[in-house]
Amino acid sequence: MRHLMSPLDFDTKELDELFDLARDIEVNPEKYAHACDGKILATCFYEPSTRTRLSFESAMTRLGGRVIGFSDANSSSAAKGESVSDTIRVISCYADICAMRHPKEGAPMVAADKSLIPVINAGDGGHQHPTQTLTDLLTIRNLKGRLDHFTIGLCGDLKFGRTVHSLIHALVRYEGIRFLFISPEELRVPDYITDMLREKNIPFEEVIRLEDVMPELDLLYMTRVQKERFFNEEDYVRLKDFYILTPAKMELAKKDMLVLHPLPRVNEISVEVDEDPRAAYFKQAQYGVYVRMALILTLLGLTNQ
Ligand code: CP
Repeated sequence: MRHLMSPLDFDTKELDELFDLARDIEVNPEKYAHACDGKILATCFYEPSTRTRLSFESAMTRLGGRVIGFSDANSSSAAKGESVSDTIRVISCYADICAMRHPKEGAPMVAADKSLIPVINAGDGGHQHPTQTLTDLLTIRNLKGRLDHFTIGLCGDLKFGRTVHSLIHALVRYEGIRFLFISPEELRVPDYITDMLREKNIPFEEVIRLEDVMPELDLLYMTRVQKERFFNEEDYVRLKDFYILTPAKMELAKKDMLVLHPLPRVNEISVEVDEDPRAAYFKQAQYGVYVRMALILTLLGLTNQ
């Protein structure tokens, strides 16, 4: 039995197979419409979500399976004090696979340890968000045609943004990646990540002004300031609009640069940018369904369709 806790749980060859499968699902959806007949996915979300939970639900439904779950810790027995370990033991009796989001870092790992079914980390605190990373990598591969040799700017809340942490860890395994970290001082990427990049001799720079590096970027990964992880409202209010991507800033970028964003967006990309053909974030959300379908099939051992 296999879980997905981190984007590093799959090596690059396995990722290629997963992305090829996602591509085949996109092109030939009818082939997979009954692949999960009789299977049940449990979505255990202790933290709010639109894309991750609903794309998992859409993925399992499109595979012919069914979905059970909760979308709020307060509507589960967590509100009565039940541990994640006990919950997953019970969910293992009801479902064949589980996607879990939790505000505590490492909680899905605790669940995986006690689980009798595959557990997918659907986001744990400010730590990791591996299925968002699968979505991001599939988007880059599909729209750029490769996962190597590019300069990527990651902009916004690089301290608390778990999608950023997961994506950096996944990208360091590909050749020729250069990182530009664009953030205010207070929201810099954590030291453990910059230490890892130095150890691996992977080029990176940290800058404050987006405009200064815009012409260099092949990819711009925008992120929202993570209000829910701030200790005080005053700091959040001061930093929340630090970056706003506008059509004027897009003028500085390469003609084939892509703008990605895990979403939800708050104010960091102006809605006028949505019309720019380089804006790929809604396409990215669509790819999230295909890659989660491929992931469910892979973890359930149902890839021979
Ligand atoms: N990208 C993402 O994780 O979105 P949700 O929080 O809506 O699931």
